[in-house]
Amino acid sequence: MPLDALVKRYQQYKHMGLALDMTRGKPCSDQLALSDGMLDVVTSADFRAADGTDCRNYGGFDGIPEARALFAEFMQVAPAELLVGGNSSLTLMHDTVARCYLHSNVDSDVAWRDLPEVKFLCPVPGYDRHFAICENFGITMIPVAMTPDGPDMEQVEALVAADPLVKGMWMVPKYQNPTGYTVSDAVVKRLAAMPTAAPDFRIFWDNAYAHHHLSDTPDPLADVLAECKAAGHPNRVFLFGSTSKVSFAGSGISFFAASGPNVAWMRFHGSRQSIGPDKLNQLRHVRFFKDMDGIRAHMARHAAIIKPKFDAVLRILGEELGDGSAYGASWTVPNGGYFISFDTKDGCAAHVVALASEAGVKLTEAGATFPYGEDPRDRNIRIAPTLPALAEIEQATRIFATCVKIAALEDA
Ligand SMILES: Cc1ncc(COP(=O)(O)O)c(C=O)c1O
Repeated sequence: MPLDALVKRYQQYKHMGLALDMTRGKPCSDQLALSDGMLDVVTSADFRAADGTDCRNYGGFDGIPEARALFAEFMQVAPAELLVGGNSSLTLMHDTVARCYLHSNVDSDVAWRDLPEVKFLCPVPGYDRHFAICENFGITMIPVAMTPDGPDMEQVEALVAADPLVKGMWMVPKYQNPTGYTVSDAVVKRLAAMPTAAPDFRIFWDNAYAHHHLSDTPDPLADVLAECKAAGHPNRVFLFGSTSKVSFAGSGISFFAASGPNVAWMRFHGSRQSIGPDKLNQLRHVRFFKDMDGIRAHMARHAAIIKPKFDAVLRILGEELGDGSAYGASWTVPNGGYFISFDTKDGCAAHVVALASEAGVKLTEAGATFPYGEDPRDRNIRIAPTLPALAEIEQATRIFATCVKIAALEDA
């Protein structure tokens, strides 16, 4: 379609006065409703854990035993390697950075705040809230390219080997936000084994989408803690997860998993911050899901709701843009998770987001998937299809694709 015809179509969209939101990866209300039964499984007659613990009271920092047992399996670690937290894994990640920053970790006596600079490697595109934590602590972020196998390991290995101020790295290992890529076994092994100049280097392994498959053939993911132990770096990795996109996004439970010394370190500092987590919510989760088969069946019900939305986005992108090459565009086809990562022609992402916004389609800010909000090629846009209704998704994607074409032709 020539540019003037596209602009005419765009003007028609503008006059429709739409208000469509594809910004954040929130579950839709049909997904939340899948877990409504959870609100009825803990009652005034039955609020004790299996070992008799009164879940209404203080205490039990590690989590109730049945929650540790079930969610250790969920996180693929031993129960002793897991702590069950409050409603947000992001809080755990923030506080873990804060504890390294304020108090050091088990592999160093020097707190990060006492160093001239602290640096983190950030696979890009990545999750904006990880980057916001770094910004909050004044941690310098170094972007490393994300590939379909994981972060560019040549870059990662060179950076961590050379610089003792590189203290950490973010990693969403499975169905990454926003690309949907899963780290290959070979990359997990290299991350576990690579020499680092900093003895207290940590990988923040945010496995937020571990069980969030969109097909019957899930991506496999190697056991990073086992690989780190085998490589002689048992303390290298901090694992995080939650049920935010399993049960209720605002009222799930979160997990920290790591080596024994790391768990003891986390317990020591954490128990100075809290007398214990919400055990009633842990009990609710265990009673509702029962076991991993229960969780897997529940995740299949989520997929049945959201897969048609992903399919609609991908179908319409294909109809409008072909394989994208005519417009310098490309996008990922995720096998799980919550996002599709879209690359416009270089220099066009901010233009596309602005055009879409004027036509009533709110997209995540261009640049949000990069540290400091700066996408050097101004091309990446994160598409979040889960929240809007299917008909809205279809309309929003059609408009988005029109904006991609207009920007590509206008910015030629
Ligand atoms: C990669 C990733 N980690 C963590 C979170 C938030 O997790 P939580 O709700 O457990 O704080 C999100 C939410 O979008 C996410 O995409």
